[in-house]
Amino acid sequence: MSFNIAIDGPAGAGKSTIAKKIAAKLSYIYVDTGAMYRAMALYFLRLGLDPEDSESMAAACGSADISIRYVDGEQNVLLNGENVTPYIRSEEVGNMASKSSPVPQVREKLTQLQKELAARENVVMDGRDIGTCVLPRAQIKIYLTASTHTRALRRFKELEEKGIRESLEAIEADIADRDYRDMHRELSPLRQAEDAWYLDTSDMSIEEVVEAILGRVAQYREK
Ligand code: DC
Repeated sequence: MSFNIAIDGPAGAGKSTIAKKIAAKLSYIYVDTGAMYRAMALYFLRLGLDPEDSESMAAACGSADISIRYVDGEQNVLLNGENVTPYIRSEEVGNMASKSSPVPQVREKLTQLQKELAARENVVMDGRDIGTCVLPRAQIKIYLTASTHTRALRRFKELEEKGIRESLEAIEADIADRDYRDMHRELSPLRQAEDAWYLDTSDMSIEEVVEAILGRVAQYREK
């Protein structure tokens, strides 16, 4: 049976950085499910769909083939055969992903893909509903979070390093909006699974978080 580690939490909590490091340490596959929602959102944007038009999104998602491939250990997302990994990180795509991810047909399609992958491989999978819906039987579940201010500050620095200047207030407001949407949608909202370990990383370094989670994994295996 494959070993599955589920990491959920709000935007900017450090999920992908942490999940990637844990996957590398354990030689597991890292699965970024947000990237799949982003690829689907890019498809809708390219079609010119309105972010509020969930009916059109439900109809269109049938013709989007999303798959993932690993190149030198890095996850690439393919949309109808095209590697769209370089195009999915913008705020525009992130906001569209947050608005299109509540559409049931979108969730069904991507959840199925994620379940199949985790049944075949040892994975560290991050997202919003991994511990609650996608992998309810994951051996390890983590709910990773940090204060809104800390998450906004991390994002601000990330953008600054890329030479992009945005106001901290605008980033914080955007994060708060996205949290609200992710936590209050009807289908698979972001919430901590009952059996997940709550980890607030506001005052922790990346290394401390990685060590803490690896400690949990070791503890589980000794049981
Ligand atoms: O983690 P991210 O910012 O790349 O995710 C983009 C959006 O996708 C996010 O607003 C919520 C959605 N998402 C989701 O609904 N379920 C997941 N498992 C992962 C992401």
